[in-house]
Amino acid sequence: MNFQSSALKHRSATKMRETRISVTEVFDTFLGEIRGSQEGMRHLRECFAQTECPKIDYDRYAEDFAQLYFLQNLSKGEAVFSQELAYNSLKVLDLGCGSGATVAAFLCELDRRAQGSLISVSVVLVDRSIHQLRLARTLLERLRPALPALKIEVECCHKEIEYLNMPADTADAVLLGHVLNENRSTLENIIEKAVRIARPDATLCILERVNDPIWRQVQDALSSRGLPTARRDISYHGDALLGGERARVAKTGYASARIPTSKFIMDCIALYFEAWRSQRTDLLSQIFTESAIYAEKPFHQPLRGLRAIEDYWKRKVVPQRGLAVHLTRASYTGQMAFAEWSARFELDCTDVEVRGVLLVSGDLNEQRISRLDEYFRTTKCAK
Ligand SMILES: C[S@@+](CC[C@H](N)C(=O)[O-])C[C@H]1O[C@@H](n2cnc3c(N)ncnc32)[C@H](O)[C@@H]1O
Repeated sequence: MNFQSSALKHRSATKMRETRISVTEVFDTFLGEIRGSQEGMRHLRECFAQTECPKIDYDRYAEDFAQLYFLQNLSKGEAVFSQELAYNSLKVLDLGCGSGATVAAFLCELDRRAQGSLISVSVVLVDRSIHQLRLARTLLERLRPALPALKIEVECCHKEIEYLNMPADTADAVLLGHVLNENRSTLENIIEKAVRIARPDATLCILERVNDPIWRQVQDALSSRGLPTARRDISYHGDALLGGERARVAKTGYASARIPTSKFIMDCIALYFEAWRSQRTDLLSQIFTESAIYAEKPFHQPLRGLRAIEDYWKRKVVPQRGLAVHLTRASYTGQMAFAEWSARFELDCTDVEVRGVLLVSGDLNEQRISRLDEYFRTTKCAK
């Protein structure tokens, strides 16, 4: 594949041109050694054409996947990370790394932005396919000399994402490139795991095809976890590395979610809605401090202390039947959070719909909520 010379035409600054040649050479050599088969590539196309992508044996189809999709996924990653890269991304976790296209795009962008400094980056590659992991590791090892601003360490983890056992609050960036669409039934668990491993201020970046119905599920999972999320479509040059007339503009979808600086407040809010949903008053002690203030109505005296909150929940929340609760949006500033929610339930033979907003303040030492103020409106409809 000779895209090196045409890619050159599109680079203006000499420094960028030098880096690009060498990065391009790495991708060129990498792909030149890949041996996909017609049968394998046909099989993958058929799998991805289905809404419910079946489980793919990537140990068998790793090279077919790289031959078909590596450049495309690399280009998508380039487009996304040129917008979304967080500067503090020193420990990068790539869940379902495949042949490494997404993380390669991420590292190229990090190198481009480093501007003369040397950054140590630790990359953890996770995949259930050993063949994919080998390809990704080979690629990153070859990329090292082409990314002079980065000192890259690579660790491979041959595991199902669901069984990954990494310490909490350790990753600065978590990448999920075209992997959730293959994990629809466990998507919430995977997002939960990614959020647990991500440290405060970390970014979660999810890439999927623009019109994939998976986006609804992704957005529900992120918002019910209390994560502030931006979901966008972005144009990318389908054959950017091929350059020239062959460049094709297409769109990819992505979502980036930022873990708040006070991550414990986000966890408390997610647990508050989980406690409401499951009507578990025993969870309240993990959410509120012993002396927490709970102002349910602005013109009433607030509840004072955990016991009062538990009693209130036993009287007002536990009797709710057919409960559906949604945390729709949340945002954070310092030790405060704002969350918008909606709920439906049946109470005393009446259908009740409530929408509201709550404001919480967190206690950093106790890692719990010290004050909650709630504002809501209710509509009722007798059965
Ligand atoms: C479509 S490829 C995407 C690869 C790469 N992220 C990219 O964007 O090009 C999906 C990869 O995720 C891996 N994978 C899918 N589900 C997984 C799971 N539950 N646990 C671990 N790996 C998984 C597959 O083995 C495959 O290598």
